[in-house]
Amino acid sequence: MFTVIADRKTQTPGTDFLPLKGTDYVEFYVGNAKQAAHYYMSAFGFQAVAYAGPETGVMDRASYVVRQNKLTFVLTTPLRSGNEIAEHIYMHGDGVKHIALMVDDAADAWQQTVSRGAGSYMEPNELTDKDGKLVMSGIEIYGDTAHLFIERKDYNGVFMPGYREWNNSHFKPADTGLLYVDHCVGNVGWNQMDRWVKFYEEVMGFKNILTFDDQDISTEYSALMSKVMSNGNGYVKFPINEPAEGKKKSQVEEYLEFYDGEGVQHIAMATNDIVRTVRDLMSRGVEFLQVPSSYYDDLLDRVGHIDEDLAPLKELGILVDRDNEGYLLQLFSKPVEDRPTLFFEIIQRKGAKSFGKGNFKALFEAIEREQEARGNL
Ligand code: FE2
Repeated sequence: MFTVIADRKTQTPGTDFLPLKGTDYVEFYVGNAKQAAHYYMSAFGFQAVAYAGPETGVMDRASYVVRQNKLTFVLTTPLRSGNEIAEHIYMHGDGVKHIALMVDDAADAWQQTVSRGAGSYMEPNELTDKDGKLVMSGIEIYGDTAHLFIERKDYNGVFMPGYREWNNSHFKPADTGLLYVDHCVGNVGWNQMDRWVKFYEEVMGFKNILTFDDQDISTEYSALMSKVMSNGNGYVKFPINEPAEGKKKSQVEEYLEFYDGEGVQHIAMATNDIVRTVRDLMSRGVEFLQVPSSYYDDLLDRVGHIDEDLAPLKELGILVDRDNEGYLLQLFSKPVEDRPTLFFEIIQRKGAKSFGKGNFKALFEAIEREQEARGNL
């Protein structure tokens, strides 16, 4: 079933050497995939898509694929101790293992990136079954995280070879309007941000489109720095955070301590109606960070005219920020596991291509209140 592909293409100078069509899926290693899948379905409105495990010939793990519009999550758990998945969970808790990217040629993506210095995580593999052929490869990124390159143009099955359709006709929670991955943020260690910026520039051909220094992102107590990396067509954006010195512990430092290393901090999921989406998520039990109601007192002075009524934004705690091209609405969940690590952002863009710099201070003060309650500030 697995074949290493030998032939390589050459790249024409001046073209994008790593054309990406978007995020194919995000795979989480979790302690109990059956229950995690249920959480993403019941709380976030994902639908059951596919399953892999002993019943499909995969003996060491169980994986559940759930989907909402263009968002696909894979929840994977080990079936025994003493393997790489179990070790990952022991060290990091539940977290993101793979950010899988959609490509036309997974062998070429691997060759282009590895020849530019990426560590190989998975040589190009050809997976086949009765529904066709899927090619995947992968490279290492920060911490124990990896990018997979997925080529599925010759595959017509439910997800990929090894999976079967998973369809629970008695449980189909309504979707919550979540559409696609807007961006996916990594937390890296002290003085490591520029190393990873260079990695995305040189190895993957990304560009640094925005930079926030510790003056932009600081409160009285704690700080961080961030650079946003984007691929050529803008479909894939990876902001990279590192901690910065403050009077007290940076939220990135708290993450690094509890995740026991570098990893994915948050995944931003886009919606076209943030009021509807957030109201729905809250009613299903998703918890969000709350800013003080004073945030809304001079909001319209700060951001100018917005199409939305202020009242529901204030009621739900939704944040607004403007840049040269428009505005955006956003809200951040609390961590979705007991360790203060991975969380989600819900974002609605109305022209703005930025990341809510104007909200950082209010937001970080909200995070600090949570950190303090955990005794980690
Ligand atoms: Fe974000």
